[in-house]
Amino acid sequence: MSGPLAGQKAIVTGAASGIGRGIACALAREGMHVAIVDRAAAEASDAVVAGILAAGGSAFAVQADVSDEASAVAAVTGAARGMGGLDLLVNCAGVIADGPLLDTPLAVFDRIMAVNVRGTFVVGREALRIMAAQRHGRVINISSELALLGREQFSPYCASKGAVLSMTRSWAREFAPWILVNAIAPGPTDTPMLDIGHMSSEWRKKEESNPLGRIAKVEEIAAVAVFLAGPGATFMTGQCISPNGGAAMY
Ligand SMILES: NC(=O)c1ccc[n+]([C@@H]2O[C@H](COP(=O)([O-])OP(=O)(O)OC[C@H]3O[C@@H](n4cnc5c(N)ncnc54)[C@H](O)[C@@H]3O)[C@@H](O)[C@H]2O)c1
Repeated sequence: MSGPLAGQKAIVTGAASGIGRGIACALAREGMHVAIVDRAAAEASDAVVAGILAAGGSAFAVQADVSDEASAVAAVTGAARGMGGLDLLVNCAGVIADGPLLDTPLAVFDRIMAVNVRGTFVVGREALRIMAAQRHGRVINISSELALLGREQFSPYCASKGAVLSMTRSWAREFAPWILVNAIAPGPTDTPMLDIGHMSSEWRKKEESNPLGRIAKVEEIAAVAVFLAGPGATFMTGQCISPNGGAAMY
């Protein structure tokens, strides 16, 4: 492969499923060497790797829990060492929970923060350590449209994704001009997390209530990641791109 990203090295967390998987496959199609980092059972990540290899791309799997500092540090340093450098990190691993605030135990809040905020922080810190030494690299953090809109019954999740946006802007300032750090804030996207198959028709209507009148496909989010990784995004840092069907306009 000979495109502008060919031969570059990427880590994508949460890449065994959903949006992370879609981004990893899209980056591999552009010729990037991709480390699939996920806490899921090895078969799930191995299946993503097998798909990429079958399509002529290059990838390998690393099992890690991003909410565990030692596991996250080992995953990033090991993957970057194995690839001989790191051009791109996509911080995509995430979890969600919903329920009335008044019935939400602290443990639910802590779990969401541990994965979505602490995981993004630790993985990002270690990747940026490598990129700072190289004086080169890009980071894409996956936030959510809900960080912009808020959502009843989802306040811990919304807060975690707001924190991801704030970290993005702070890192963009701290590591300029060598490293570009941006966020993607997807609207509802057809993945196992959204679980359309088990969604009530009332809730589905709510998720589809944007000007485009539908839920996003994973490929539509992955295309934004490819843009942010590529030569068209050299003047982009600290930005949030929100492919959300027009639900939030700002
Ligand atoms: N699907 C949506 O509608 C939507 C919308 C906006 C933002 N997002 C965000 O996109 C990201 C991906 O979500 P998705 O919809 O693809 O969900 P998903 O559940 O399909 O995939 C999430 C992946 O993250 C992994 N993961 C979870 N906790 C982890 C941990 N501690 N360590 C390592 N890996 C871990 C899971 O194993 C899974 O493979 C998340 O950050 C999510 O918050 C999703």
